[in-house]
Amino acid sequence: MSLQEEYKSEQEKNFIIKDKLQTEIDLRRKIHNKYMTIRGNLRVMCRIRPFIDSETKDVQQMFFDYFQVSNDKVEILEVSKNCKAKKYILDYVFQQNSTQANVYEEVSLLVQTMINGTNVCVIAYGQTGTGKSYTIQGPSPTSDNQGIFLKSAKEMFEMTGPILFDTKHKNNERAKLSISIIEIYNETVYNLLGEDSPVLNMYENSDGILVIPDLNPISVNNYHEANTLFKIASKLRQSGQTNYSDKSSRSHCIYSFYLKIVEEDGSITRSKLHLIDLAGSERFSKTHEINSQIKNEGIYINLSLNALSNVLNAIALKQNHIPYRESKLTHFLKESLNENFNILLMLHVSPNIRDICETSSTLEFGTRIAKLCKHKTGKEKKSKK
Ligand SMILES: Nc1ncnc2c1ncn2[C@@H]1O[C@H](COP(=O)(O)OP(=O)(O)OP(=O)(O)O)[C@@H](O)[C@H]1O
Ligand SMILES: [Mg+2]
Repeated sequence: MSLQEEYKSEQEKNFIIKDKLQTEIDLRRKIHNKYMTIRGNLRVMCRIRPFIDSETKDVQQMFFDYFQVSNDKVEILEVSKNCKAKKYILDYVFQQNSTQANVYEEVSLLVQTMINGTNVCVIAYGQTGTGKSYTIQGPSPTSDNQGIFLKSAKEMFEMTGPILFDTKHKNNERAKLSISIIEIYNETVYNLLGEDSPVLNMYENSDGILVIPDLNPISVNNYHEANTLFKIASKLRQSGQTNYSDKSSRSHCIYSFYLKIVEEDGSITRSKLHLIDLAGSERFSKTHEINSQIKNEGIYINLSLNALSNVLNAIALKQNHIPYRESKLTHFLKESLNENFNILLMLHVSPNIRDICETSSTLEFGTRIAKLCKHKTGKEKKSKK
């Protein structure tokens, strides 16, 4: 066989292998999508924060007197008139000894879902100081104990990298991954990756599509670039803390990945993954010093958390009108919180007995939405019979 013939034969073999690989990828996608549909597209989980240094042995002991926890249940034993004994059933409970890797195992399924073309939201909800930022961002931008943003970025490149970021396709790009990181403080949206004008305006065009003219998500080619953007945003967010007291716990931060894939047949699939680190849901009366700034922030936080609750309720009940425009938070997420979605609501709670009423109200919030969703799905199944 001549060298030319040998080359041709190798090329043909390559085509066959590539074809087989694509068939396997398509099959894997279908199985994954089916599995995710069976699991339900709104899942409510809970993560219990471990004890921190300031929590004494007595406080730690009391946890076992007042809580009973298993993999799918948190039970609060009666504490006071305001906090009655109640069992909360969840899709999964990450107990105090759970690691960042354990939590990411769940998110990893959603990263695959997003790569398959479905919009995904992971929402970290809960009282101040319960570990929402720890879950999403990790303890610090340089820590080994990374949060789900960096873990997702790493996996996205690992999963799509070999085929989709094939350097041979440079001029005929098969995939593009971009990132935006925004912060919503007192109903104003800031672009943490923007240059001169960090304040973002949003409006809907005549087709009802949300337009954010200056958002401009930044295209990334590897994990290192994603990590650099994460560090830039983390720094900005921290410096904000000196301008506004305790800003990080009084603002929402949304980390978004935007994926565009040109399929083998030339069609284009676009999807988004939003990781949302919400502001703490603590009530006013618990805040130590109530100055007017803190009070004002609290009003905006409550407004947007109520709006989020209304939107999730409306989605769970499959209502025709979903009140996205009640807050900047829900408006920003409009295109991801709809019928083509997958949502993980991760409730964060404190193990401290002092916070038990907040813990109970966080669990009440999440389980009510989960129940509505399951009830509606059950009803639909019955009526189809
Ligand atoms: N799983 C965890 N493992 C170890 N430490 C944790 C964990 N979760 C939270 N912490 C610690 O608890 C403290 C509060 O966590 P974090 O700042 O993430 O809370 P938060 O819910 O984001 O609060 P806020 O609403 O005020 O922003 C931090 O010191 C953090 O390091
Ligand atoms: Mg936080």
